[in-house]
Amino acid sequence: MEGASAAREFGADCLIALGGGSPIDCAKGIGILATHGGKIREYEGRNAVRKDTLPMVAIPTTSGTGSEVTFSSVITDTAEKYKFSIRHPRIAARVALCDPELTASMPPMLTAATGMDALVHAIEGFTAIPAEPIADACAIHAIEMIVKFLPRAVRSGKDMEARAGMLMGSVLAGISFSHSDVAAVHCIAEALGGMYDAPHGMCNAVALASVMEFNLPFCVERYARVAAAMGYSFQTAEEGAKKAVEHVAELTREVGLPGFSSLGVKEEDMETIAENSARNGSNSSNPRPMEKEDYLELLRKMC
Ligand SMILES: [Fe+2]
Repeated sequence: MEGASAAREFGADCLIALGGGSPIDCAKGIGILATHGGKIREYEGRNAVRKDTLPMVAIPTTSGTGSEVTFSSVITDTAEKYKFSIRHPRIAARVALCDPELTASMPPMLTAATGMDALVHAIEGFTAIPAEPIADACAIHAIEMIVKFLPRAVRSGKDMEARAGMLMGSVLAGISFSHSDVAAVHCIAEALGGMYDAPHGMCNAVALASVMEFNLPFCVERYARVAAAMGYSFQTAEEGAKKAVEHVAELTREVGLPGFSSLGVKEEDMETIAENSARNGSNSSNPRPMEKEDYLELLRKMC
């Protein structure tokens, strides 16, 4: 809100967003408010942006968000402890300048958390109900790059081949889920992130393997293709699908991310987290239909 007032006072005719997902999403919000007025919460959903927003150049400094190429902005309503999404092609950056040098100073934990966010974008983009061929193609290539380069980027931040591979993997994953959607992992991650102000990538990472296990019976063939992109060969789709889930759990440990318990989720918050997950705009995109009770059961299992 303050950024939008400043942009209006200054008479800004364009925006430059430099940073990770939050600064880029914030700049998208500033672009909307500077041209439309009102309060940011009024723009939740897919249909509230009515005209062009300020043209924006996005320069990502993390490899995860994909926000530099997506049509969405995720904002936390701090009063309600609720993360909501604003989606419209008009809020996308006009130009994305993706330079791996700008990601080289990320410490290992941030590299790991943002990198896992990118992996979730690719896997959810590939398996969400609205998946389509462009989303599929970008997702598969993104998965190949992320599983290859993420451990290297975490181990050695100055490995520029790994940094470049991760940034491109993140961009492709962002394109994938923009053409498709994210799903239950993001529904949980956004509910957790709204409640505890925990990093988005971390919230995704703790939920990914459990949600994949839950979804598995509804996307055996697709998970098998994910496993193939991870480099596995197998006899049956069922076997491949299980390998994909196992690899994700292993990768989360390998890059040093803590488990679900590290978030300090309180029992009394479970109902609200489950409810906010179910009301997320991407819940209907999950390959396995999910209600609040399913989220509650899954959260208890993860605990
Ligand atoms: Fe994400």
